Amino acid sequence: MESKTAEATKTTLTDLVLPSETNPLNNMFGGELLARMDRAASIAARRHSRRIVVTASVNHVAFNHAIPLGSVVIVEAKVSRAFKSSMEVYIDVWTEDRESGLKTKANIAIYTFVAVNESGRPIPVPELIPETKLEKERYEAALRRKQLSLVLAGRMKPNEATELKALFLKED
Ligand SMILES: CC(C)(COP(=O)(O)OP(=O)(O)OC[C@H]1O[C@@H](n2cnc3c(N)ncnc32)[C@H](O)[C@@H]1OP(=O)(O)O)[C@@H](O)C(=O)NCCC(=O)NCCS
Repeated sequence: MESKTAEATKTTLTDLVLPSETNPLNNMFGGELLARMDRAASIAARRHSRRIVVTASVNHVAFNHAIPLGSVVIVEAKVSRAFKSSMEVYIDVWTEDRESGLKTKANIAIYTFVAVNESGRPIPVPELIPETKLEKERYEAALRRKQLSLVLAGRMKPNEATELKALFLKED
């Protein structure tokens, strides 16, 4: 299988926040943003694997800023690391100012997708090559996040999470 760059998986969804997608404070529903992020991330994972992909877990979501009605929301997803059948996808969310066009970072999220065959069984994916400094940082940290996700899901014993443990035992 041919390795692919993180950039080759980049997927950008740009859309408005409509009244039906807001809460009583006229800000975007968290669930609406989760759905947009899931959609963009699944396309990024498909671009990497060229297979059917399923969401295995949502590892991290930070709703740091409310997104008001009428905002232009840009959701950018990129695969940050590929393992055997799973892929970590990093999602950055911005809003775009109507007048200046300036982008402001609103949220981030990290999802895990698994490539599967027609019967839903996991299948191998190509290696991911990070190129930029940010892509390399995200790639390096992805194994720790995978281990944390597996421990929380009860799929890995804490004492097997070697990379994760090293983070807590590191001396400055
Ligand atoms: C995700 C799924 C395919 C995993 O299948 P499985 O038979 O448990 O397969 P495995 O244990 O071999 O795991 C497959 C990969 O997923 C990873 N994985 C599974 N659960 C994970 C979790 N909670 N966090 C991170 N990675 C996870 C495993 O580490 C493994 O990765 P690797 O092959 O890269 O090492 C299966 O649980 C599934 O189909 N879930 C439903 C998915 C779905 O419908 N999503 C939409 C929800 S509405």
